[in-house]
This record gives sequence, C-alpha cells and structure tokens, in this order.
Amino acid sequence: MTQRFDILTLFPEALRAYLQASLLGKAAERGLVQFHLHQLRDYATDKHRRVDDEVYGGGEGMVMKPEPLASAIEAVSKEYRKGRVIYLSPQGRKLEQAVVRELSAYDEILLICGRYEGIDERILEGWVDEEISLGDFVLCGGELPALALVEALTRLVPGVVGKEASLREESFSDGLLEYPHYTRPPVFRGRSVPEILLQGNYGEIQAWRRKEALRRTLEKRPDLLERLQLSEAERRHIDALRKQP
Ligand SMILES: C[S@@+](CC[C@H](N)C(=O)[O-])C[C@H]1O[C@@H](n2cnc3c(N)ncnc32)[C@H](O)[C@@H]1O
Repeated sequence: MTQRFDILTLFPEALRAYLQASLLGKAAERGLVQFHLHQLRDYATDKHRRVDDEVYGGGEGMVMKPEPLASAIEAVSKEYRKGRVIYLSPQGRKLEQAVVRELSAYDEILLICGRYEGIDERILEGWVDEEISLGDFVLCGGELPALALVEALTRLVPGVVGKEASLREESFSDGLLEYPHYTRPPVFRGRSVPEILLQGNYGEIQAWRRKEALRRTLEKRPDLLERLQLSEAERRHIDALRKQP
C-alpha cells in the first residue's frame, strides 16, 4: 500500500523542491509514498482567483475564504478510502512522535496549509478532521508544519528507512531520547570515543546505551521520565544520577 499525501497550499513550488530531495524524494521514486501538491487558487471561481477576504466584525488581516477550500477538499479527498483531512494550525494538537504513529494508520492524508489569519471557521466545522500544531509559536503559513508532518510520517512507511531497528531505537520511540553516537576517528582533537564502544561486546554496549539514554533524557527532557515505566534498577540509576553534582 502506497501512503498518499495531498497538500493544499498557495505555494506549491516552495514545497516541491523539498519533497523531491533526499529521503522523501527517494521514497516517492520507489513508489512507497505519493506527494500531490494542489494550488488552492485553482479552486477559486472569481476572475481574480481570490482566496482571501476581510474579517467579519472588523479587525486586522484577511481570512481564507470557505468556497475554494471546500471545493478543493471535496475534489482531492473524494477517492479517499481511509483518509484524514488535517489543518495545520497553532491551535491544534501538538505534533509528537506518538501523534505521528497514530496518524500513520491513515493511507491518505490531506494537509491544508493556512495563510493570513487562518481559514474560515466553518471549514473547520464541516471539512476538517483535526488540527495539528508544530508547537506553541506562530508561523506565517502551514507549509513548514506540513513538510514536518509529511517527513515524520514518511519515515514510518515500511521500507523507507533502511533498517527498521534504527526506527525502534530513535528518540521518543521508547519514551526516551536516543543514546549518543560516534564515528571515526577514535580520538578527535583530544576527545575520545567511550572505550566500551570500541571493545565490541554487544551486551555491554546495549547496557551502556540504555544508561546513556536515561542520563541524557534526565538532563535534557526530565518531563519524559515521569511518563515512563522503568525497572527498579533503572529507577535506582536515575536516583544516583540525580544525586551527582
Ligand atoms: C499567521 S498564522 C494564523 C494564526 C492564527 N491567526 C492564530 O492566531 O491562531 C497563518 C497560518 O500559519 C499556519 N501556522 C502558523 N503557526 C503554526 C503552527 N505552530 N503549527 C501549525 N501551523 C501553523 C496555520 O496554517 C495558519 O493558518
């Protein structure tokens, strides 16, 4: 099954180059994913192809008109079998790996990139399944959040990332940040690779990696540890780390 992404935007050309590059481009070439970019203006019916209008009730800025959006969503998603219509919005559910995993259950995803003050509220009520936010900050448009979501989802499509194990070990996959990585040379400007990684004892390396993942999660994202089921030994390890100066 090919995962299909449709992106509705006023700037399809800005997205095209990114979708053709690197891992995303290769995944599309191999037929594992499909990217379809749609120009919202193509669904505007007036002679100026307008997609925005003034805010009812007064106030600054413009709002994206409902008619082109509804027509575009209906046209694009009419053949969806197991699809989801997502509006990228700072008011949405915050994007996290758990959300990405949940959304990966959908074979077809239509992403709506807002601009201006956002879209007419009636589109949210009648045509959108959910809103997703990249974080608690405001961008000028939904294009970057759409690319972030497409990339995170594409990485989970079977066959896209070389080794499935590398997905399993990644940050957030088991609730922890990933352990540190090193490559050659063994000593770089006086900084050495930890000795244990050079000795080749797989069991010891795995134990070291787990401890390092716990250590760096405690240092960088202690909030993640509160949601985790840890073994008694791991709890003791964390307590010992907390006591270190
Ligand atoms: C300037 S913003 C509109 C913000 C809106 N007036 C508000 O205060 O909620 C324009 C568009 O950028 C996108 N956008 C901005 N910040 C975003 C974020 N953090 N996550 C996802 N989309 C975002 C949305 O598609 C939005 O319609």
